[in-house]
Amino acid sequence: ADLPFDPADVRRGMIPAHIYNDDEVFRLECERLFSRAWIFVGHVSEVPEPGDYVVRQVLNDSFIVARGEDGQVRALFNMCLHRGMQVCRAEMGNASHFRCPYHGWSYRNDGRLVGLPFHRDAYGGEAGFRRKGQTLLPAPALDTYNGLIFVSLDPDAPPLLDYLGGFAFYLDYYTKQSAQGIELSGPQRWRIKANWKIGAENFAGDMYHTPQTHTSVVEIGLFREPRAEKRKDGSTYWAGNGGGTTYKLPPGTLEERLRYVGYPDVMIERMRRSWSADQLDVVGRDGFMVSAASVFPNMSLVHNWPRVADSEEVLPFISIRTWQPISANETEVLSWFAVDAGAPEEFKALSYKAYLMCFGSTGMFEQDDVENWVSLTHTAGGAMARRLLLNSRMGLLADGTEITPALPKEQFAGPGEAHVGYGEYNQRHLLNRWVDYLERPATTARSVRLGGQE
Ligand code: FES
Ligand code: FE
Repeated sequence: ADLPFDPADVRRGMIPAHIYNDDEVFRLECERLFSRAWIFVGHVSEVPEPGDYVVRQVLNDSFIVARGEDGQVRALFNMCLHRGMQVCRAEMGNASHFRCPYHGWSYRNDGRLVGLPFHRDAYGGEAGFRRKGQTLLPAPALDTYNGLIFVSLDPDAPPLLDYLGGFAFYLDYYTKQSAQGIELSGPQRWRIKANWKIGAENFAGDMYHTPQTHTSVVEIGLFREPRAEKRKDGSTYWAGNGGGTTYKLPPGTLEERLRYVGYPDVMIERMRRSWSADQLDVVGRDGFMVSAASVFPNMSLVHNWPRVADSEEVLPFISIRTWQPISANETEVLSWFAVDAGAPEEFKALSYKAYLMCFGSTGMFEQDDVENWVSLTHTAGGAMARRLLLNSRMGLLADGTEITPALPKEQFAGPGEAHVGYGEYNQRHLLNRWVDYLERPATTARSVRLGGQE
């Protein structure tokens, strides 16, 4: 009701252009969306040993994601209980304690306050200030899936698995290729002058931009064309709180198809043992292989297997990223390389190279995409954009009928809803979810005491 656009427009796939650069919309996103949804902050492989930590942001809130001596991973609000200084200024490292640079209060890596300079003189010792029980504020909610760490600022957030819903099935293709799980390296970080939603929508379902935006990758002779797999016969799928795109693989058995994607037999054997019958069927029986995807609101994944020009080499790689909003028109991208922790070292090295060439900060695809998004964002901030409804109805007839109905279970074994061919089903799903959150006014901030002292 109090939104600066008509939510009914969004729900019918007509998108008010100014939502991609509007301070008022951004304020509502901070208050109603990012304060409630599950936000990806890292992976357990980034903090393998006790004391390992990385510092990650949720909007303006900094969290120390640290593994304690007890082996448990926590997300501790990076703000000193005394006068609010950031207690950890490094981006990653290993520490048994964090000492605040301002006045020197110190905390164990599980958040417990253990040291106050001049405790007796300044506070009268324990009688005046009891250290026991004082901890850095933990994130209101923290949960993991396949080692992926998510936090939510909402203490009443649903369990992560419920939030992911059917998308967890697809997340396994990227993050559970073997029982050993994945390992992450990075992240590379960079800022783009673009609204955070554009990247999330693009990765969720924009198969349509590839032939136009990314032609140069083939034209300059970096990668080979034509691909035997057919993008237009690929699908978009959406389940739970996420969705993505697939490529249609050439006919063959499960093994042949996974070899085509570039996986060595040792890895294929491990996938066979890690994935469910339905997960194997999507690839082996139905011939679809997941490519880009997004988890609402701002996490995306890539799985790609470029074929190097003038060679038989195929280089599959996996990447995870977040679109971390800085403002209505700026986004910080965090991009990780991900690989099966048990993959042969040679595979890891080649796969990393492919990731850098395609989607690292200087990657070919990355450069192509961002130029569009920066331009779009800039234009969305002008006066005329307030009068324009963008068309995001691809795949629908005027009366709302879907051009390609959802695939039946016999043709697509995965959960949710999958459509063959071009369509903006997923972009609509993502923005519908976005409207769901924006329509719910923030409840009056409850003073939940999670730590701190008086
Ligand atoms: Fe941290 Fe004073 S602000 S010790
Ligand atoms: Fe792209």
